[in-house]
Amino acid sequence: MDLSFIEQHIAPLYPHFKAAYNSLSASNIPIIGDISSHVRSTAGKQIRPMLTLLSALSCGLHVDTKPDHPLFRIAAAIETLHSSTLIHDDVIDQSDMRRGIPTVNKIWNNKAAVLVGDFYLAQVMRTLNEVDDSRVTDIINQTVIRMCEGELLQLQYTSNFNISDDIYFKIIENKTAVFMAACCATGATMAESSPTVVSAMYDFGLNLGMAFQIRDDILDFQPSSLTGKPQGNDLVEHKCTLPLILTLRNIDPESRKEILDILANETLTDSQVDSVSRHVKKLGFKTAYNILSSYIDKAQQSVKSLPGNTYRSALVELSEKIKETEIN
Ligand code: IPE
Ligand code: IPE
Ligand code: MG
Ligand code: MG
Repeated sequence: MDLSFIEQHIAPLYPHFKAAYNSLSASNIPIIGDISSHVRSTAGKQIRPMLTLLSALSCGLHVDTKPDHPLFRIAAAIETLHSSTLIHDDVIDQSDMRRGIPTVNKIWNNKAAVLVGDFYLAQVMRTLNEVDDSRVTDIINQTVIRMCEGELLQLQYTSNFNISDDIYFKIIENKTAVFMAACCATGATMAESSPTVVSAMYDFGLNLGMAFQIRDDILDFQPSSLTGKPQGNDLVEHKCTLPLILTLRNIDPESRKEILDILANETLTDSQVDSVSRHVKKLGFKTAYNILSSYIDKAQQSVKSLPGNTYRSALVELSEKIKETEIN
């Protein structure tokens, strides 16, 4: 997903965000510095802090180019929270690759990954305390709680291939969409927007986040050259995501049994992953993509009545990018 178009909108502000972000992962303890350098060596899309900055600007916040504006520290805390959750997520998912390079758990070990993830989370808490805006603290705290709930609900449904749509949507809302909603609501709040505007921005982020996780769940079946993450890891981890749910619903009974027999194995071979993936691409991708697309429509509807400006257009453009998902 190419988000380089955002640069033109936030170019003068980006270095202030980046400086705040780097300072949050710094430490005198060498192993923390080493892991932070590794994490920062491939930046990722930084979609969440961009949502916060663009939301604040679209709601009329004038930060000028003051490097010490609290908005930058909050955007930095948001990306640090994201890093923390990814490092923990790779331990939980036993994943060995992210952003095309080995994960922290792979290079170091699970213990180091858990502790560094905790360190980042503590840095987020410290930042929220320093900025001292109880509205923002409240939004972020709620996000962390909901993410943990989503991850635990997902854990509870591991290996359950009868999972309902409702449970799937509840999992992805909690683990991913609420965070994106919080990014947008935080920006709007810091711009002193009315409750109606904050709520519209929250809904924008929430629907965007639903689409974003469905996109990620589709891409999990695609080659790692496209994602920088291990292909088929959700299957390997026995996670039943939307493309698989839809496939199991639409397939003939014989092939359905074939898939379920494969997934009953504790470990899957590459050829078993390939075989299930082939069915999913044929029977699950199109409908999953249509659902993704309908969430993007909902996101755009949420902000339709808000006053237009270039930053609001950039947010809509960003939502369009999520639709650029490879489904062939
Ligand atoms: C990955 O998020 C986790 C999900 C919610 C799917 P991103 O795809 O935003 O990760 P990076 O930061 O760009 O690598
Ligand atoms: C999102 O789910 C995880 C978080 C909310 C941290 P995934 O497990 O699908 O994310 P990736 O695919 O590992 O990035
Ligand atoms: Mg994962
Ligand atoms: Mg994934």
